[in-house]
Amino acid sequence: DEGYLLFSLGTAVIGSLQFGYNTGVINAPEQKLRSFFNDTWVERYGKPISPGVCTIVWSIAVAIFSVGGMVGSFSVGVMANRFGRRRSMFLVNSLAVIGGLLMGFSTICSSYEMVIAGRLVIGLFCGLFTGLTPMYVGEVSPTPLRGAFGTLHQLGVVVGILIAQIFGLEALLGSAKMWPLLLALTVAPAVLQCILLPFCPESPRFLLINLKKEEQARKVLVRLRGSEDVSKDMQEMKEESAKMAMEKKVTIPELFRVAAYRQPLLIAVMLQLSQQLSGINAVFYYSTGIFESAGVKQPIYATIGAGIVNTIFTVVSLFLVEKAGRRTLHLLGLGGMAISAKDIPVMSYMAIVAVMLFVAMFELGPGPIPWFIVAELFSQGPRPAAMAVAGCCNWTANFLVGVSFPKLVEWCGPWVFLIFTAFLIFFFIFTFIKVPETRGKTFDEIARSFGGVPPPTSSSAEDPPAGASAATTLPASPVKE
Ligand code: GLC
Repeated sequence: DEGYLLFSLGTAVIGSLQFGYNTGVINAPEQKLRSFFNDTWVERYGKPISPGVCTIVWSIAVAIFSVGGMVGSFSVGVMANRFGRRRSMFLVNSLAVIGGLLMGFSTICSSYEMVIAGRLVIGLFCGLFTGLTPMYVGEVSPTPLRGAFGTLHQLGVVVGILIAQIFGLEALLGSAKMWPLLLALTVAPAVLQCILLPFCPESPRFLLINLKKEEQARKVLVRLRGSEDVSKDMQEMKEESAKMAMEKKVTIPELFRVAAYRQPLLIAVMLQLSQQLSGINAVFYYSTGIFESAGVKQPIYATIGAGIVNTIFTVVSLFLVEKAGRRTLHLLGLGGMAISAKDIPVMSYMAIVAVMLFVAMFELGPGPIPWFIVAELFSQGPRPAAMAVAGCCNWTANFLVGVSFPKLVEWCGPWVFLIFTAFLIFFFIFTFIKVPETRGKTFDEIARSFGGVPPPTSSSAEDPPAGASAATTLPASPVKE
């Protein structure tokens, strides 16, 4: 029934919440962490840490999270195929426990290395979940609601960021004494998810297409859809299963070699890049500084304001996405961001308005859509490999923006957001020309629009599929070999 579906989605989305929380959590306690690095230095070497070294240690602690994310997201395909979607989520939670404990006990052990190691492990964990959650959600959702439910992943992310911003307040857990607990808190949702996951079903697509367990898949679908008649879903999955008999478990190199995957892969990667190179995390990592230089008295509250706008507009997108479609919302969001970006560095309260608008436009499309559209663009065989490649591109771009933004500000001053405007215009044009609408289409219909999966008669996955020039039902460009 509906309750069971929502329960399963809610459980999976705890992973998204974790990603958001760990993205946002490191900002508020920066000064406290810096003085902790100094304390350990004094304790070990009898002299204070030099400001340069302190900044290096701090930057490593921040950036190593994205490095973990790159590695984690890249490994998702292997895990998801080997252990299944549900068991992967269960196992991956052990990383959150390890990472959280490392950071939580760092002060007791007087070890800043434990903060860095903890951030790396938490990054691995988040990287895996940015693949696992959208994949699971895409595979259990009914076709007409796949976009709305897909947006739940992003909703989890933004709520996680907001919780981190609020808990990070000095009066709550952002104090010199409490910050280790703030960082360790990620253990709690991990434990909760491990308790709930055994009550959730494995993805019916994984059961039927990968494991050939037809009866089990049917039972799961009956519970998820709340109806005895799941023949339509079963029929569709069986067709997909028959078609992919030859391309089962596509590896990453195969993903690049097969012509039929080239278009969807290009689109998937470009959408990830459009999300990160929009500059959104320049705001989420550095907003307090941006507001401060704009003359805002209590910049931390403006940052929380941005977190609230962020959450509200993700909900707006959730309700719009099945009506307006992915393509339209993505275009609208990119265009709106390009326009508001030019006003962000204004040295006045106008900057607040511009940031809020920028964030709102991001969540209309560029925030939620790239995360779930990858699962839509690929059928069961190539999906895990595609999620891995797309996720890794997302995390790499995230890393690049995060580490380069402070330098870019030094170089470009108030013009810095024009760099993002340029990217936004480029991605707007790309989306306009290349991105098809996937709303309401089954996975199989989408795959066919790109030239289809190789028919079972083709001799190997490396051959260009015979159906490469099959009729396109979507406005995508034809597959070129
Ligand atoms: C998306 C991005 C993430 C960003 C967040 C902001 O989930 O992937 O990097 O921090 O949106 O809401």
